Amino acid sequence: MKTLLVTGGAGFIGANFVHYWLEKYPEDKVVVLDALTYAGNMANLVSVESNPNYTFVHGNICDQALVESLLVENSIDTLVHFAAESHVDRSITGPDAFIETNIMGTYSLLKAAKKVWLDGDTVFDGHRFHHVSTDEVYGTLSATDPAFTEDTAYAPNSPYSASKAASDHLVRAYHHTYGLNVTTSNCSNNYGPYHFPEKLIPLVITNILHNKDLPIYGDGQQIRDWLYVEDHAYGIDLVLQNGRIGENYNIGGNNEWANIDIVKAISVLVEQEFAKNVELAERFPQARAAIESNTASLITYVTDRPGHDRRYAIDATKTNNELGYQPKESFETGIAKTVAWYLNNEQWWQSVMDGSYQNWIAAQYK
Ligand code: NAD
Ligand code: TYD
Repeated sequence: MKTLLVTGGAGFIGANFVHYWLEKYPEDKVVVLDALTYAGNMANLVSVESNPNYTFVHGNICDQALVESLLVENSIDTLVHFAAESHVDRSITGPDAFIETNIMGTYSLLKAAKKVWLDGDTVFDGHRFHHVSTDEVYGTLSATDPAFTEDTAYAPNSPYSASKAASDHLVRAYHHTYGLNVTTSNCSNNYGPYHFPEKLIPLVITNILHNKDLPIYGDGQQIRDWLYVEDHAYGIDLVLQNGRIGENYNIGGNNEWANIDIVKAISVLVEQEFAKNVELAERFPQARAAIESNTASLITYVTDRPGHDRRYAIDATKTNNELGYQPKESFETGIAKTVAWYLNNEQWWQSVMDGSYQNWIAAQYK
């Protein structure tokens, strides 16, 4: 039985992880620590609200004293660290928050973990600090480069990926220098329920439903390796159960798509849903016009993201071989579930999208 502190548990992946964990391990206790930034939403955790083994704490990972007290008072043995600023575009226009949360926040958590688990009168051997990172720390690939392995040299290109790389290095250093029991997972792009509609896939689905342009940065030939979010939670689970201390594990789905192709595929899927269910045209009257003519005509090429990484691809051989990891969801099933989730959860995405975000993005990429 474990007692987890999950940072960033009100965000996209953190919330999916909390759902996954409480369902799979109903005896375990989960404490979520989240600052509820624009990306964190209590609506993501409604389904676990009444679970007696779940507690929510509104607070900042930079608050070392708070984290120390949470570790002690809840007898936490496992810290799973998702909290971060996570959107590359925001890191380009406002890197400060990324340095503060991703680097200083991780540093603060490491200090708290060391103090409570290692520096007391008795060392608590059964602890684990799991750090959730990204494939973006490895930089960018050409079309013919082999996929990233855990041995690929770090070469982050955006303020976001640089801040994540810095945090990965701090986590590694706390193991090598102080003996903190750390593991790190580097995962490819996730998609699925509760994904904030500033990221490509939910943005495209919700824009189709609002009959808005589908913005494609540059030539749209950038490639991302997409993984259904529950398969990320499953990969972290395996690392927590059997991962070797001090190691990095790549998690990915072997599922590379050019941005333009994924946007076209989603357009077709939404059209198919409208064809199957006549109620959708009544619920989303704005979308109806585009869908009846040609949804893909909403595609609009816009100015490219500065320093835009061309291709990410994960080689998860180590995780597959050592931990028996294989994603459970195919892209076909995962994206169909995702589109269906957004069609059925309009209230969620309407509530997290305040008008200011759309204005902000419009101003960036006119
Ligand atoms: P997200 O932006 O949806 O959620 C981040 C959460 O962290 C939010 O709930 C937010 O309120 C919280 N948070 C932010 N700053 C905080 C602070 N200072 N203190 C406490 N809480 C704070 O992000 P996500 O997409 O769920 O990503 C989670 C983690 O996974 C991140 O570390 C990210 O780097 C990593 N990751 C994401 C992806 C992806 O495709 N989204 C892929 C690989 C790795
Ligand atoms: P995003 O979802 O922001 O994830 P990341 O930048 O972490 O990979 O973007 C995925 C890809 O889609 C990336 O190549 C940028 C591109 N993109 C667009 O072309 N248009 C958009 O409106 C957005 C948000 C992203």
